[in-house]
Amino acid sequence: MSEYYLGLMSGTSVDGIDAALVDFGNERPTLLYARTFDWPETLRQRILQILADPDAVTVRALGQLHAAIGEQFGSVALAAIEAAHLQREQIAAIGSHGQTLYHDPDGEHPFSMQSGDANRIAEITGITTVADFRGRDIAAGGQGAPLVPAFHRAVFYDPDVSRAILNIGGIANLTLLPKSAGPVLGFDTGPGNGLMDAWHQKHRQSRFDRDGRWAGSGSIKQAMLERLLDQPYFRQPPPKSTGRELFNLRWLETELTSNGSAAQAEDVQRTLLELTAVTVARALQRYAPDTQQLLVCGGGAHNRMLMERLCALLAPVELASTESYGLHPDWVEAAAFAWLAKQTLEGKPGNLPEVTGARRPVVLGAIYPASGITPFGPVD
Ligand SMILES: Nc1ncnc2c1ncn2[C@@H]1O[C@H](COP(=O)(O)OP(=O)(O)O)[C@@H](O)[C@H]1O
Ligand SMILES: [Mg+2]
Repeated sequence: MSEYYLGLMSGTSVDGIDAALVDFGNERPTLLYARTFDWPETLRQRILQILADPDAVTVRALGQLHAAIGEQFGSVALAAIEAAHLQREQIAAIGSHGQTLYHDPDGEHPFSMQSGDANRIAEITGITTVADFRGRDIAAGGQGAPLVPAFHRAVFYDPDVSRAILNIGGIANLTLLPKSAGPVLGFDTGPGNGLMDAWHQKHRQSRFDRDGRWAGSGSIKQAMLERLLDQPYFRQPPPKSTGRELFNLRWLETELTSNGSAAQAEDVQRTLLELTAVTVARALQRYAPDTQQLLVCGGGAHNRMLMERLCALLAPVELASTESYGLHPDWVEAAAFAWLAKQTLEGKPGNLPEVTGARRPVVLGAIYPASGITPFGPVD
């Protein structure tokens, strides 16, 4: 069987669908092709609407969205395979994370809902598709997140260097890889780019603050920062995970109102950037004070001002892009879901119980076989 896998991912930023075609046939994963495909704007707006007001959605709208996202992921898969000049038959499987619509791992009936019907992806592509990665970990008592740490360990662990991997998406998550090879810790630190994006979209009418330039024109409002840092999530010990259900514009605006004093919009942006940097730095200092090197990935790795602040707060820890260690920061997460699909098809666990809090390692996801065959042999 080929060792080419395709990972499909859309994160909480809803900035695009990442597709990463990875060859796992060598000692280290090799990226064959990767691209972020734009969401069709109407589909993106439907997703954003549900994320902003999840209680207002109807079952019918949810079902239709699930189908539409599945079809979109299916077309993205075909486009990626064609652009990579590969044939579908060469792809062992697709790992589709889908689009998270609601993440609630700590409620009465814990769940995490990713939309994007994988039946559609398998039918459109004729390629075995693995999806719904989070559900089994949650069923085993875990957070269902983060799931990337096992992949981070497989790719970035170094017995000579105590490393941590920081993925800055809408939410930021850390994987701690001490050189002693003890248990791997990993958790969501809190907001990554998400709050900055939301504030920027509201005041500047474009999707994000390129290089943190707008933030750079403002100044930190200390009282506001302290108030935001007072959110109990930041004090909660791991395992923990979070999402837009907590860290969203509504939460921010409530906090700003309670904070009283009016601030310039750019000062809020600067303070939000500091919030991301400080919560990451404190988490690292608390749970992995011996870290020598922090490898950064996710869209936030491109935010120059954020990187400068992290560097300053964490000195003498060396900051580097995951690119210096073989994987461009934009594709680590999609590559992780390609790898998780491979784990599933090989019957291997994809979660790390010490990270998610699950009772045991479990094989993640559901398998949607390519037409006519299952990974275990012919159907008929
Ligand atoms: N040049 C840049 N400057 C600042 N921020 C950037 C830049 N490029 C990307 N980003 C940020 O990265 C985000 C996308 O990151 P991504 O890792 O895809 O997050 P997610 O996993 O939530 O989709 C964008 O919404 C934006 O905030
Ligand atoms: Mg993204």
